[in-house]
Amino acid sequence: MSEIAGFCDQSKLQKVRVDLKERGYDIEIGVGNLVHLGPLMTSFAQARHVVLLTDGNVAPLYADSIAGHLAAYDLTVDMIILEPGEESKSVAAAECLWERLLEIGTDRQSIVMAVGGGVVGDLAGFVAATYSRGLRFFQVPTTLLAQVDSSVGGKVGVNLASGKNMVGAFHQPLGVLIDTQTLDTLDDAQYLAGLGEVLKYGVSLDASLFELLEANVEPLRRRDHRLLTDIIARCCRIKADIVEQDERETTGLRAKLNYGHTFAHAYETLAGYGTLLHGLAVAIGLVDAAKLARELGRVDDDFVKRQIELNRQFGLPVRFDGIDPDQVIGFMLRDKKVVGGTLRFVLPTEIGQCELVGDIASETVKQVWVCE
Ligand code: GLY
Repeated sequence: MSEIAGFCDQSKLQKVRVDLKERGYDIEIGVGNLVHLGPLMTSFAQARHVVLLTDGNVAPLYADSIAGHLAAYDLTVDMIILEPGEESKSVAAAECLWERLLEIGTDRQSIVMAVGGGVVGDLAGFVAATYSRGLRFFQVPTTLLAQVDSSVGGKVGVNLASGKNMVGAFHQPLGVLIDTQTLDTLDDAQYLAGLGEVLKYGVSLDASLFELLEANVEPLRRRDHRLLTDIIARCCRIKADIVEQDERETTGLRAKLNYGHTFAHAYETLAGYGTLLHGLAVAIGLVDAAKLARELGRVDDDFVKRQIELNRQFGLPVRFDGIDPDQVIGFMLRDKKVVGGTLRFVLPTEIGQCELVGDIASETVKQVWVCE
């Protein structure tokens, strides 16, 4: 109980509404606000049973105390602890969870709560979307990457051996609660990986955010809570605006959130799941998307240099070494943005602006791996 019995600073609390009519929900961002979980869960109709999904790293840090806190609000809590890591985001793990939900008597009034990073959230959401044709779902993301991206917008799913996130659904949560204090226990690599996604929002969608990041490298590196609360809220607002307009990624707008990701997904698959953290792969993908845009005459050399410089200041990687170009192109051709067998990329026109560009020749993409 101790971690969440602490003080919640109400002055730092922020709310972002994802307005999707009957599927709409709030994202609450704060410092020490895990204490709000009990009242929030009991505010949902017929909330009696919570299936809390977490992993072996997060259980002792937060999930055990959250389970105790929810029980104090007369909720029955069943906790399921997954193996940490990307390997758990599999069809086999989903099947185990479906069986387990049946064993513990989960019904349509149960709420699945994900407490952890992107793997836990994506898997828990997928299981919630599919078990009994759909259960309610709540997200408590505890990594920066999950807080700014994967917990928001309802994309849930699992990986196939040959393709990341290839099986999944759109299943919006009932709500998201983000406590920036949970970032204190994140290891440096995981925290940096989250910053990779934060940089993505700035460079592709919000020039003033990019400038704010350039001006605040040091406080962000030391995980300043107040700044993080503002930046996370800002990223969530950008994402909510897009998801409200293109929930199921049909118009090309939501695809913009995948800036840098065509490169990143290929590198993650190439490295082997779990070997290269998603956000670090995204950080490299941001540099490579900038280089590809430069190759196509869409941005100048300064754009690429500014991206590389910001990555370096944060300690983020700028390249993926030892590439076999044909193999990477092979992985890219399995990307969900591929249409009619041709490569499409989200590419910038200036800092804070990007668009989906089709019909890009593989030979042009390969230039990215030979130029500086
Ligand atoms: N992570 C991209 C999206 O949610 O659409």
